[in-house]
Amino acid sequence: DIEIHYKCVSLSIWVLMFLSAFEVCRRPTKSNILCSLFPTEMLESNNLLTFNGLANSSAYHSFLLDEERGRLFVGAKDHVLSFNLVDINLDMQLISWPPSPSRRDECKWAGKDVQKECSNFIKVLQPFNQTHLYVCGTGAFHPVCAYVEVGKRLEVHPSHINGELYAGTSADFMGRDFAIFRTLGKHHPIRTEQHDSRWLNDPRFISVHLIPESDNPEDDKIYLFFRENAIDGEQISKATHARIGQLCKNDFGGHRSLVNKWTTFLKARLICSVPGLNGIDTHFDELQDVFLMSSKDPKNPIIYAVFTTSSNIFKGSAVCMYSMADIRRVFLGPFAHRDGPNYQWVPFLGRVPYPRPGTCPSKTFDGFESTKDFPDDVITFARSHPAMYNPVFPINNRPIIIKTDVDYQFTQIVVDRVEAEDGQYDVMFIGTDMGTVLKVVSIPRGTWHDLEEVLLEEMTVFREPTAITAMELSTKQQQLYLGSTIGVSQMPLHRCDVYGKACAECCLARDPYCAWDGSQCSRYFPTAKRRTRRQDIRNGDPLTQSDEADGERGLLDKTMYGVENSSSFLECSPKSQRALIYWQFQRHGEDRKQEVCSVMYTVEAKRPVISITI
Ligand SMILES: *[C@@H]1O[C@H](CO)[C@@H](O)[C@H](O)[C@H]1NC(C)=O
Ligand SMILES: *[C@@H]1O[C@H](CO)[C@@H](O)[C@H](O)[C@H]1NC(C)=O
Ligand SMILES: *[C@@H]1O[C@H](CO)[C@@H](O)[C@H](O)[C@H]1NC(C)=O
Repeated sequence: DIEIHYKCVSLSIWVLMFLSAFEVCRRPTKSNILCSLFPTEMLESNNLLTFNGLANSSAYHSFLLDEERGRLFVGAKDHVLSFNLVDINLDMQLISWPPSPSRRDECKWAGKDVQKECSNFIKVLQPFNQTHLYVCGTGAFHPVCAYVEVGKRLEVHPSHINGELYAGTSADFMGRDFAIFRTLGKHHPIRTEQHDSRWLNDPRFISVHLIPESDNPEDDKIYLFFRENAIDGEQISKATHARIGQLCKNDFGGHRSLVNKWTTFLKARLICSVPGLNGIDTHFDELQDVFLMSSKDPKNPIIYAVFTTSSNIFKGSAVCMYSMADIRRVFLGPFAHRDGPNYQWVPFLGRVPYPRPGTCPSKTFDGFESTKDFPDDVITFARSHPAMYNPVFPINNRPIIIKTDVDYQFTQIVVDRVEAEDGQYDVMFIGTDMGTVLKVVSIPRGTWHDLEEVLLEEMTVFREPTAITAMELSTKQQQLYLGSTIGVSQMPLHRCDVYGKACAECCLARDPYCAWDGSQCSRYFPTAKRRTRRQDIRNGDPLTQSDEADGERGLLDKTMYGVENSSSFLECSPKSQRALIYWQFQRHGEDRKQEVCSVMYTVEAKRPVISITI
């Protein structure tokens, strides 16, 4: 019989280097990490705060963060709630806003599911003025809007129209009519063309954002993110496409045609794919969520988007990053046009009328004061050519994160820009359909074209597996807020103490929020200058960071016995996802130990399981 001696070394990479000089085999296995920071423990700790929902409500899906007031407003089934950002369990307020009994009855008679559909699901929560929010709900298939006063207590006031609201509505809101509309203004409501699948084809709206185009507010554009069925002929089978749509803020519709309809609406496909075997790309088409990371230049935020696959054979999720420059280039490129014997989609090569559809009317630039002044040929062209021919490809042409062989999918994303000793890092918090949150940092390996993603933590944030459907991040509170069908949770952005007390452990964690301050792993503040502070996000190399030998701290030693000519799984759960594990092989009666292999934990590694045949 043979004894296999294996060691699970937690975080102490240099210990290993002292022990022997052997070939370090960095072999990330292709699955995810689950062992991380003891997911079940998280719920019991003081770090996570949960609100387990009202007995008569659910669907805590619409969030509005108000850092100034220190409140989180949440739209749910028949209720608007307001939570204290410091602690969501501190002084929760609520107003109930169910549909009237007659609406509920109508809904029931129309054959709808009373429990699931005949309620007022709050879908829109917008800041309106210093004292009021503008709130809309489904109202059991009769959308209702109101002003909600946010003072010491919440109050509902019937709405009258002022200000502007851009919204995309889907079947769950208005029945079969899909529209992107603007209402609440001094002007007549404007919407998309009705019953025209070229404009919208069974869309699901994700989000809407105002992004300035220049320093002139006349050029301001509204960008919409949604997914919809591919237009007939675009794809052989029924497929979903992720889309970005654009509109001018100062679009008031056409004069003779497209009256009270958008005249500047254009859409383009968002691609997020990876090259597959046999040359066919694997597409992540089901756009789930979008986060805009603002930069110093408000015209050019970075767009983070979460996708899943629509395939029922292949389950996967991805995060892709887009630049506004690429998006604008596509909207200035060729329009999609149907032509030829097979009536296929081709780039439009004819003369595009002036001003080019999609351009905002601007006195200074093109001399048109309003979309109502646009020539007829512009309106006619705009009506029949809402789609661009070229798609928008992600930065570096590929996703920054892909997760495939796992039993969950991504649902939500928020990103925090963190100042670390060696630069700025974007830390992503990704929610899943299993009630977990992944904290991931993307680190340039040399250039921006070569990013390494590092999974810092994976936490369970709801008591039962449930999809995370809303996420907001407060930089002021350094907290993350999460919504689901069953409730609301709150967790800190960082918990540096979990990385332990050693300098090397802190550095190997590669968490940009944390640095070793001479005695412990603590929150890193760029302003506080400390000689002893250590952090190395880029390399996570304790050899360059540690000036004291920590000995064999964190070393876990396990022994396993094996039988000749059989195979054994060598496995252990390290304290950190950045841990290093290695095994030594020792024959019975021999002193000599032989290194089998060692595995550096990477974001792709689940358990460093190595099977050896003795
Ligand atoms: C739901 O319950 C809360 C108290 O738990 C109550 O304040 C609220 O009015 C109820 N809502 C409805 C619609 O009955
Ligand atoms: C905010 O709007 C509401 C609804 O129109 C109005 O009653 C209220 O006076 C406004 N508050 C301020 C401070 O303008
Ligand atoms: C193990 O396999 C080797 C080579 O196949 C063979 O020579 C040896 O007898 C086997 N040992 C046992 C205990 O079966």
